[in-house]
Amino acid sequence: MYLNKLDLLALTDEHKTPLYVYELDRIQYRYEQLIGMFPEQDLKVHYAIKANFNPYIVQYINKLGAGIDTVSPAEIKLVQKLGVKSEDIIFTANNLTNEEIQEAGQTGVLFNLGSTSELDRYGKIFPNTKVCLRFNPDVIAGSHTKIQTGGPLSKFGILLEHVEEVKAICEKHNLSVVGIHKHTGSGIKDQSAYLQAVENLLSIITPENFPDIEFTDFGGGLFIPYSPDEQEYDYGSFASAINERLEALHASYGKKLKLYFEPGKFLVAECGNLVIQVNTIKDNNGHLIAGTNSGFNHLARPVMYDAYHHITNLSNPDGELKTYDIVGNICETGDNFASGRELPEIREGDYLLIHNAGAYCFSMASNYNLRKLPAELCLLDSQVVNHSPVVSDDVLIDRLIANVNA
Ligand code: LLP
Repeated sequence: MYLNKLDLLALTDEHKTPLYVYELDRIQYRYEQLIGMFPEQDLKVHYAIKANFNPYIVQYINKLGAGIDTVSPAEIKLVQKLGVKSEDIIFTANNLTNEEIQEAGQTGVLFNLGSTSELDRYGKIFPNTKVCLRFNPDVIAGSHTKIQTGGPLSKFGILLEHVEEVKAICEKHNLSVVGIHKHTGSGIKDQSAYLQAVENLLSIITPENFPDIEFTDFGGGLFIPYSPDEQEYDYGSFASAINERLEALHASYGKKLKLYFEPGKFLVAECGNLVIQVNTIKDNNGHLIAGTNSGFNHLARPVMYDAYHHITNLSNPDGELKTYDIVGNICETGDNFASGRELPEIREGDYLLIHNAGAYCFSMASNYNLRKLPAELCLLDSQVVNHSPVVSDDVLIDRLIANVNA
């Protein structure tokens, strides 16, 4: 965290909470760390924009030198409008309709296709083009079952044993396979699982199978700590293990291939802070509940994935430690940011800071219970450089009832 608590509290004087505050310096730090990990490789990073599609952040990351990994036609449209070049965009959607294939194909981005059905339908519409293929690396890894994408029952990627079928489809439509991709899961702590997935993927890359390969893409899933108890990942040993495997691949393939990653959390999770305010303290016979002005409509990860988000008391940091459930204002019992969490005494009116709220937080937020989304501030060197204001209740309501009155 680059901002101190006082800087964050000062922002609440000017801006209403709930408020997302992004510190872009942290993104640059992680981007440079990733680039620095692989000096031997011809590395390209595609930021997985699904993690956070705040336009200022997308442009910032693109200016650092990254391309973008997209998963819907609208994501492509957004990043193209922001000035990202087609050659810097990969399209890794799943379960595409023919209309979506048509729409996305016209933008000129490279498709990363994860099923033989989509590959065949894409080939019929856009024969004689280049594609990347997403394979299922046959490894189950990731911080929660809902975000593990490998293994025999996964909806993602083509099974490794379906290579022959893939080759036949590519031949039929004269598709040139320029990239081989896998994404194993999100938040992968287990380095051996990540490396096994790489190993499995590389086993199918031969000149006989795919003579036109230009790059291998290992997806996202790069681990960063969310809790103070978690250690920083050993990226030194990760990078040397990847380098070793790539060296062997380049020798057997007879050519040096580019290396792609498409991180989401690694780049943006730590830059985000969600500042919320406590309005109601309840004491249920000694069980303390701190009720706030936000909820899982603004930050769903604890509810969706049992995810730990560190929380600090911004306005009473030195209070006596007590144990709280920290909950939202949504009408569901599961609307919980943390249970049994020890924090300095929380008083009505105190501001709490939810850490690591940069990835899959605002981008997964909704208007459930017809509550507004928070404003977002982007900061560089502790100065506000961009402000996405709140869409008011009246605008929301007018959008909803427009069709009734039409
Ligand atoms: N590439 C592909 C094909 C993906 O499906 C994903 C994430 C990424 C890259 C980026 O993964 P990352 O580096 O962020 O782990 N909403 C969940 C995470 C969903 C991840 C979906 N795919 C969460 O909040 O934990």
